Amino acid sequence: MAKIIAGVASSHVPAIGAAIDNKQTEEPYWRRVFSGFEKAKEWMAKAKPDVAIVVYNDHASAFSVEIVPTFALGCASEFPPADEGWGPRPVPVVQGHPELASHIAQSVILDEFDLTICNKMQVDHGLTVPMNLLFGSPKQWPCPVIPLAVNVVLYPPPTAHRCYMLGKAIRKAVESYPEDLNVVIFGTGGMSHQISGPRAGLINSKFDKAFLDNLSKDPKKLTRISHLELMREAGAEGIEMVMWLIMRGALDDKVEETYRFYTVPASNTAVGHIILEPKRRAVTKGKRPAAKMKRAAARTKTVIRRSK
Ligand code: DHB
Ligand code: FE
Repeated sequence: MAKIIAGVASSHVPAIGAAIDNKQTEEPYWRRVFSGFEKAKEWMAKAKPDVAIVVYNDHASAFSVEIVPTFALGCASEFPPADEGWGPRPVPVVQGHPELASHIAQSVILDEFDLTICNKMQVDHGLTVPMNLLFGSPKQWPCPVIPLAVNVVLYPPPTAHRCYMLGKAIRKAVESYPEDLNVVIFGTGGMSHQISGPRAGLINSKFDKAFLDNLSKDPKKLTRISHLELMREAGAEGIEMVMWLIMRGALDDKVEETYRFYTVPASNTAVGHIILEPKRRAVTKGKRPAAKMKRAAARTKTVIRRSK
């Protein structure tokens, strides 16, 4: 049976991609941002997922504003990087997992979430920047990826609650796939930012940090946030954070927060990152006998720290 072993969230600021592509990551401004992802890359190298589901948004790259699907699932065998105005980013072509993706499409659509099925799709910075932040810059990406593009560019985007419930449907789909696969799910975008209009440059760290706290401990609270509140507090493009709730919906109600990072600014944007793992995974690591398991469960936190 396939299972979701963790959820990760990360901003996808395009300037981060440009800093990587132009070899500026050691400059002090960018060092501050990239240093926060060193731990994340170490964690990912250990987690070695078999597949990553990357929830992201397309920025009028694969889809023009003529066709804007609310939820679009990439079922192709590969997804080339899109040309966003400066030529395609020099990153590897993303390999898909058409079998698991088709299975997810069937399960989720029969559960009444009407996904658009994409058998040909290019991917933009919304997907490739978080891939760099979590996997570095290898010659080939280390695992196949199932892209899930969410409309957050044209009103009306899906609600926070709808996103959370879709996450639950995705988890059910993954867990009904017969092959043993370890799956990591990414939520990307955000955090607070507004890139045009009189409030351009808006960053709200207080809101972002509370969002991270609730994502970890009380995600249901976040499902009640309206678009208006999200935009008022986190800026027009802060609406991207609804995508983090798809990731969160795919995890247990209670999770272990393995790592968190927050810094401002990168370009116009607050950068946030979090890794969430099921609690039971931390306890069952290392195959303990039943009595030891019981004692370990009582001091889960210590076990987690020691096993790292
Ligand atoms: C910026 C941030 C984004 O998330 C994005 O998609 C485009 C631009 C920015 O900070 O400029
Ligand atoms: Fe964006």
